[in-house]
Amino acid sequence: MSPVVAARDLVQVYEVGRGLFREPGRLRAVSGISFAIEPGRTLAVVGESGCGKSTLARMVTLIEPPKSGALTLDGMDAVRPAPSERTRLRRAVQLVFQNPYGSLNPRKTVGAILEAPLAINTDLPAAERTERARAMMARVGLRPEYADRYPHMFSGGQRQRIAIARALMLSPKLVVADEPVSALDVSIQAQVLNLLADLQRDLGLAYLFISHDLGVVRHIAHDVLVMYLGLAVEHGPKERIFARPLHPYTQALLASTPGLGPGRPRIRLRGELPSPLNPPAGCVFSTRCPHATDFCRTDRPPLRPLASRLVACHYAERFLDDAGDLDTDSALRPAGGAAIASPSSVGV
Ligand SMILES: Nc1ncnc2c1ncn2[C@@H]1O[C@H](COP(=O)(O)OP(=O)(O)O)[C@@H](O)[C@H]1O
Ligand SMILES: [Mg+2]
Repeated sequence: MSPVVAARDLVQVYEVGRGLFREPGRLRAVSGISFAIEPGRTLAVVGESGCGKSTLARMVTLIEPPKSGALTLDGMDAVRPAPSERTRLRRAVQLVFQNPYGSLNPRKTVGAILEAPLAINTDLPAAERTERARAMMARVGLRPEYADRYPHMFSGGQRQRIAIARALMLSPKLVVADEPVSALDVSIQAQVLNLLADLQRDLGLAYLFISHDLGVVRHIAHDVLVMYLGLAVEHGPKERIFARPLHPYTQALLASTPGLGPGRPRIRLRGELPSPLNPPAGCVFSTRCPHATDFCRTDRPPLRPLASRLVACHYAERFLDDAGDLDTDSALRPAGGAAIASPSSVGV
């Protein structure tokens, strides 16, 4: 199956600090991220605040063009789109934000909010737009009778359902969800995640699901891409990464996630995230890594295939040396062949 979205080496750079007190600098918010997502699949992008997740989301949803790199959406070049494809391109991808209240116009009714994308992008008559808006409300678990109510009359979880409904009005192929449940109570989070999973199953949607929380990602992701300072440090199938994280940063994130930590190597994240204006030489994680050597501090490790995922650590083999890994790996080995070097989902 061909991917809905394929990104190769996406880079975003911001010119910052042209103020009174600071030298202008170039901040590499995203430093070469590649991935592909097939229909019906979810890639979760995880990492601490400031690692570049929202910047990636803005590039993939065409809000900001990348500084460099290639992006293909539904088979179309999204960086230099053909003029005839612009409309289809814009409709192929939609964004759901963290804060649904901030992104819903408080002076419009839910019905009007849901009809707006149809009014702007289609020639559908008003009655048909109303009908579709109400059908979508029912689809996301809201009572269609509430179409005349305003966003503030709904709970946080219901407002996120409205935002999801709005994103789906133009039948996108890819939904980019940037921390979609981070502002919700834990009990409500599960309901919204279940809704997203149901919609994916029924509509074949591809999701780029962004979260700082591996616990949230655990149930919804098929693949995981762990970001640190604008770079991918580990990327591959969720099962592989959760069962045996090979990058010390992934290990630290997992160890600090409630419910996922026990029984894992105890790695504590020391110190602060370095400034992306002045990233460490060598491995970007070397300033906080308990295993870092002088080599790590001078030579940046490439993202390379190992044990059915990609990992950017000079010493990743060190975390493989247990019989369990060898057993599960041989199960994935084609008869008489070498181990599968790179997961197909990563194949860009
Ligand atoms: N428009 C911008 N101008 C300058 N710097 C930015 C801009 N947007 C984001 N940044 C910086 O880029 C880095 C990544 O930010 P962001 O993508 O928001 O990370 P995340 O979503 O993972 O928290 C941060 O250091 C942030 O300060
Ligand atoms: Mg963000």
